Amino acid sequence: MDLDRLEERLAEAGQSHLLRFWDQLSPEEQAELAHELEGMNFIEINTFFKNAVATSGQAKQEQVDSRMEPLPREVLGSVTRDRESLKEWEAEGLRCISQNKVAVLLLAGGQGTRLGVSYPKGMYDVGLPSHKTLFQLQAERILRLEQLVEQQQHVNQCCIPWYIMTSGRTMESTKEFFSKHKYFGLKEENVIFFQQGMLPAMDFSGKIILESKGKLSLAPDGNGGLYRALGKHKIVEDMERRGIAYVHVYCVDNILVKVADPAFIGLCLLKGADCGAKVVEKTNPTETVGVVCKVSGHYQVVEYSEITLATAEKRSTDGRLMFNAANLANHFFSLPYLKDVINAYEPQLLYHVAQKKIPYVDTQGQLINPDKPNGIKMEKFVFDIFQFAKRFVVYEVLREDEFAPLKKADSQDGKDNPTTARHALMSLHHRWVLNAGGHFIDENGTRLPAIPRRGPAGAHSHDDSQNLKDGMDLQIKCEISPLVSYGGEGLEKLVHGREFQPTLIIDESGIHENVKNGL
Ligand code: UTP
Repeated sequence: MDLDRLEERLAEAGQSHLLRFWDQLSPEEQAELAHELEGMNFIEINTFFKNAVATSGQAKQEQVDSRMEPLPREVLGSVTRDRESLKEWEAEGLRCISQNKVAVLLLAGGQGTRLGVSYPKGMYDVGLPSHKTLFQLQAERILRLEQLVEQQQHVNQCCIPWYIMTSGRTMESTKEFFSKHKYFGLKEENVIFFQQGMLPAMDFSGKIILESKGKLSLAPDGNGGLYRALGKHKIVEDMERRGIAYVHVYCVDNILVKVADPAFIGLCLLKGADCGAKVVEKTNPTETVGVVCKVSGHYQVVEYSEITLATAEKRSTDGRLMFNAANLANHFFSLPYLKDVINAYEPQLLYHVAQKKIPYVDTQGQLINPDKPNGIKMEKFVFDIFQFAKRFVVYEVLREDEFAPLKKADSQDGKDNPTTARHALMSLHHRWVLNAGGHFIDENGTRLPAIPRRGPAGAHSHDDSQNLKDGMDLQIKCEISPLVSYGGEGLEKLVHGREFQPTLIIDESGIHENVKNGL
């Protein structure tokens, strides 16, 4: 190790404080810190900081409001308003999947701070009767879709490769988990892990924060770190070798996610899209979601914090919110577009700044847990690249069918937590059984009422919390293994005309009713 050279580089970048405790470190700690610092490009990091800080703030927010336009109808496909086209989209998607041209890509590099567990979020068990984790549900949906495609399209071997982006903090445990569970039945060579980059947290003056005397405070560089990571690990080349032409990108925390959704893929293909986004209808102006819209003629996600209430409350002539396309972080990309993004577009993007309370060691070496934000983390977002799309497509789906993210622990505000995620999945499965002609009865044999389906818009909002709560009170415990049904198909022969006493579990081994403590 060349300590003099390192000191020189740090001094040039104004980051000499990182060696402040050097003499107090053990030789191993010194080696580790030196290794970390030697791998970092401080000039680049300082530039990221300067540019990110310069473009964040109030002035930018006001400009966005005045430049926003709603989505044009021609880029939109809706599961409710274009019902007659759904079959055609699905058929097109299934055909493309049968040619082994579709891959799925999971964004699983987040830290899950709000959920508050020390392991990757995909390993979380929300308490379903089966106790399946998010990773297992997704893996089994992939397996089931492959089988469906093989049966319906009469192909021998359908393969949907699964690319999983992790971070320095989640890679090892994620890989171990998959290995321990034998890849949940998928072929090991079709589950490809790669790691996103990390960036240091900085104080408001641009100094990198030390989380201990010999360790920088590092965090993953946002889910938009995807594009740099794809380039660095030559993932697109791997996709090309496998003949992949389209990629479905999604987040780990949505328990209802339809991986490689044929209808979404088919819609994007038929419209010739290079980039697509799934959305649900935002019905409450103050809901804290980003909306997909146009800004100065380019597609973009505008965060709730970036617009004024007046803009959020604007309504179209049909009474819906004008900016109502709530982003699900569920995207379609063509491979040529991904390549352009990696080579040309992503490097142009600036980092977003998030002010955070970041634990640090003070000049005396004492660990301080601040009670108000003391620094920033820099992140790019996966949707930052929508603006470069030449043919953008938006697919509006029903929230209760497709979106129930797991963000927080149960103790918090009653939203997006393990309970809501579990209930969302079981109430979807309950509806599948009812739609397939099955019924539920209580212990006296009396038929249980069905959960009323919401109106055509389908979306509930924060204002609907009572509604949601009522739905939960009516909750019928019902879980259908993804290995049995991907999206509600194939259940008639199992449930039509039958009555079931909850808890009902339908899995590969059969129908289990009146299950008391899970399987
Ligand atoms: P969130 O923004 O909800 O972050 O991620 P999170 O890390 O899961 O949770 P908090 O904010 O720390 O509580 C949305 C999706 O983006 C992925 C997450 O794994 C999740 O699937 N993500 C986020 C990454 O892949 N990398 C990142 O750097 C950040």
